[in-house]
Amino acid sequence: MKQLHEKISLEGRVLSEEVLKVDSFLNHQIDPGLMQAIGEEFSRRFKNDRITKILTIESSGIAPSVMAGLIMGIPVVFARKRASLTLTEGLISAEVKSFTKQTVNTISVSGDYITADDRLLIIDDFLANGQAALGLLDIADQAGASVAGVGIVIEKGFQPGGRLLRSQGVRVESLAIIDSLADGKAVFREEAET
Ligand code: G4P
Ligand code: NA
Ligand code: NA
Repeated sequence: MKQLHEKISLEGRVLSEEVLKVDSFLNHQIDPGLMQAIGEEFSRRFKNDRITKILTIESSGIAPSVMAGLIMGIPVVFARKRASLTLTEGLISAEVKSFTKQTVNTISVSGDYITADDRLLIIDDFLANGQAALGLLDIADQAGASVAGVGIVIEKGFQPGGRLLRSQGVRVESLAIIDSLADGKAVFREEAET
């Protein structure tokens, strides 16, 4: 997605060979116009998949998901990373390993909002090791919902998440795939337009 590539090139900061900082438009300050374009692109790629709901994870997955949900005319559910005071019954939970922090976190969604009638599009901001996406797929599975695919804003193609998900037969649509962050520069994989 050209507009996203340009934004990453212009404003992304390469912190190391593994980490890209995109706080000016995605992870802290949010660019609504870019989020709208991202929502339109997800909507276009999944327009024939009869999606009933978007499933994402707080916090940075929410902005692109809400835009996609608005354009597709469907609700957005975000998995919570912390226990909620009011959301305690009928929870569907999954464990998410963090390789960078060496921790395991429980994420959860109310069974009221994801059911066996749903056909889901899972959306997240980054795909690195794929653990968050696997946790969301686990929640969908427990709810009996089907999953049309996973939509990612930025995939780090040099980390194993994309290969892991695709090898399990999951359709992954990434709007930008970065193959290298060496020498302080993001190198994009050129994708055939779908
Ligand atoms: P990982 O080992 O699979 O990479 O997972 P980890 O839990 O360590 O990732 C921590 C957070 O860092 C996740 O967001 C993930 O989306 C994000 N992340 C992974 N690689 C990058 C990167 O190169 N750049 C940026 N900006 N983020 C990255 P999170 O903690 O769940 O935060 P949020 O969704 O609330 O923003
Ligand atoms: Na993040
Ligand atoms: Na995220």
